[in-house]
Order: sequence, then C-alpha cells, then structure tokens
Amino acid sequence: MNLFKDQAKNYRIVVTGGAGFIGSQLINKLLENKNLSIFNLDKLNYASDLNRINISSKEKRYKFLKIDLYDEKSVKEAISSIDPDFIIHLAAESHVDRSIKNPKVFIESNIFGTYNLLEATRLHWNKIDNERKKYFKFLHISTDEVFGSLGKDGFFSEKTAYDPRSPYSSSKASSDHLVKAWHHTYGLPVVITNCSNNYGPWQFPEKLIPLTIMKAIKKQAIPLYGDGLNIRDWIYIDDHIDGLLKILEKGKEGKSYCIGGNGEINNLELVKKICKIIDNLRPYKEPYESFINLVKDRPGHDRRYSIDSSFIKKELGWQPKFNLDNGLLITTEWYLNNFEWCKKISSRKI
Ligand SMILES: NC(=O)c1ccc[n+]([C@@H]2O[C@H](COP(=O)([O-])OP(=O)(O)OC[C@H]3O[C@@H](n4cnc5c(N)ncnc54)[C@H](O)[C@@H]3O)[C@@H](O)[C@H]2O)c1
Repeated sequence: MNLFKDQAKNYRIVVTGGAGFIGSQLINKLLENKNLSIFNLDKLNYASDLNRINISSKEKRYKFLKIDLYDEKSVKEAISSIDPDFIIHLAAESHVDRSIKNPKVFIESNIFGTYNLLEATRLHWNKIDNERKKYFKFLHISTDEVFGSLGKDGFFSEKTAYDPRSPYSSSKASSDHLVKAWHHTYGLPVVITNCSNNYGPWQFPEKLIPLTIMKAIKKQAIPLYGDGLNIRDWIYIDDHIDGLLKILEKGKEGKSYCIGGNGEINNLELVKKICKIIDNLRPYKEPYESFINLVKDRPGHDRRYSIDSSFIKKELGWQPKFNLDNGLLITTEWYLNNFEWCKKISSRKI
C-alpha cells in the first residue's frame, strides 16, 4: 500500500494533535493526496494553531473536531462516526519544563488520553470487516526521551530498556506501554515510533531552537541550562514526517521504530551555530552569541540522547535528507520572516 500512489482508495485518516507542530505538517503532507480524508482531533492548547494547516475549512476532505482525548465519551463517538482506516496519534502535552511545573495535565492527556483513544479504537477494530483489518493501523508517535539518558557513548535503539526521568517522558513511556498492551492483549495492529528532538518552521517558541532565534532577534539573553553541554540528536521535521509515512504504509505491526536525524550536538554548540546564521542574515554590532546566558539547570536534566536509526533504514529504506546546517538555515530564515506569528502565539491567553 502506498498512500500517495494508491489513487483508487479514499482512506479516512484520523490525526490526533493535528493543530500542533508535527501533526499539522503531517496533515499538510497527507492532504497532497486529494483522495485522502483527514480528521484532525485536537483540544487546542497553548501550543496549537490551526493556521499551520494549508486547507480551507470548507473543503470536505479535511475536518477539524475540537476534542479533548481525556473526554472518553467524545473520543468514542468521534472514532465511531469517522470510521477511520488509519489513526495517527500525536496529541500530547509535549514540553518537559511544563511537565515539571504541572504534571497532572500530562497524566490526563498523555496517559488517559491514549487509553481513551485505544479503547475507542478497539471498539472500532472489532466492527470493521476482514478486508479493512488487513491494512488498518494505529500509529503511536512517541519520543526517544522514554529511554532516559546516555553517557558519553552508545545509542538508543528499539532494544533499549525504558528508563524515563521526567513527568513528560514517563507519561509518554506509560502511553507506549498501553499501546503495546492493547496489541498483545486485544490484537490491535499498532506501530510505535520513538523519535529524537524535532525542529523546523512553526514550532512553538518555547522550544530551544525557536526560543534562541526569538531571543537573538530581540537582543535579549539567550538562556541555556547548566553548562550547556547536554547533547540532543536533532531531526528536521520533514525527515520525521517522511519516516512516519513510510511506517504508516509499510511498518510492521507490533514493532517500534527509532527515528533520529544524525544531528548529535551539544546545546551550546547548537545555539552558537544559530547565532552565526543570524550574524550573516541580520548583522549586528556584536556577535549574537554574546547574548548566551547559562542559567540554573533543569531538575533531572537528561545528559545525552542519540538514536541508532539502522532498523528503519534497513527495513523501510528511510534516510534523513536534511543535515543540521541546511535544516537550521531554513528554520532560522523562517523565524526571521515570521516574527509576528511567534509574538502572537507566545502572547495568547489560553
Ligand atoms: N517535538 C518533538 O521534538 C518531538 C519529538 C519526538 C516525539 N514527539 C511527539 O510528537 C507528538 C507531537 O509533538 P509536537 O511537538 O507537535 O507537540 P505540540 O505541543 O506542538 O502539539 C501537540 C498537540 O496535541 C494537542 N493535545 C494535547 N493534549 C491533548 C488532548 N488531551 N486531547 C486532544 N489534543 C491534545 C495540543 O492541543 C497540541 O495541538 C507528541 O506526542 C510528542 O510527544 C515530539
């Protein structure tokens, strides 16, 4: 099955969290196939913006439903009436700092929300015929943060034991376990992805890369936790989406796929790279890296993440197409040109 070549099929696809950074861009990609009907289920939190989606709400093949996955009844009704062929589950509270300040909403959305969606999916799965059962999939989008923290060496892979450390990562780990249990116990055809840190246009400006760009443009202190030497493996959003689509089409039921961008770098070096890009694009009397300001570390801050993506590369022929230099250039240019969007979304009261 190829979602973009199989023109005869008019699949109905549910995307949860489709008003968020990754979900919205995934919807834009899916909408390139005019035969697909997309149903976006999102509660609309502080990080959401439906303007990220390139389609008029009048078009029949796209529908937005304002639904909180914590609300069991609404989720069951929605899944039953949509009657989907695929479910791609991205809805989650996603910011580690917020999870430290207010863990409850992470438990509600990421754990109970996933549970409600799984139960609604199980009822739906039990009703569909065997022909549709052959291709139906529940794709659960998770993070590499469920694996905890690496030392200087080694990589996370599908074989790594779970060891989450923050309320965010433990809520995502819990949701992964529920998804696996619904596969083993009830036979639901699930696939899980564990991806590294995403970046790109449209990301809410509380995350490190857009935050750095926004602070630099405003000539304000660019905050960096601790000694700035924590390492992340950055992936450009289009590469993540490309991987998700390959998995949706050909991923093996019951499997997990680790997705990383070959973009391992420490935070200080990353922020310096961004500052150099802005030095070129918007020269200032002093280098932007002079605004970098080391601040008190985040409690329980994981030291290093790095992904071994060899399984998805071998099984599905996926490769990241962007490297950190070209991905960061595109991203920085986008934020410089969309400064007003960042100001607006950051100052909204929700
Ligand atoms: N951004 C990353 O670097 C990254 C990396 C790996 C995995 N992920 C995972 O990808 C998914 C999407 O991440 P993102 O960066 O787009 O996040 P985001 O915060 O930009 O968007 C999340 C969306 O989910 C919605 N949502 C949250 N709780 C909900 C609920 N209870 N009911 C309905 N909708 C709800 C929000 O309203 C928001 O629109 C998450 O599951 C996240 O854990 C993100």
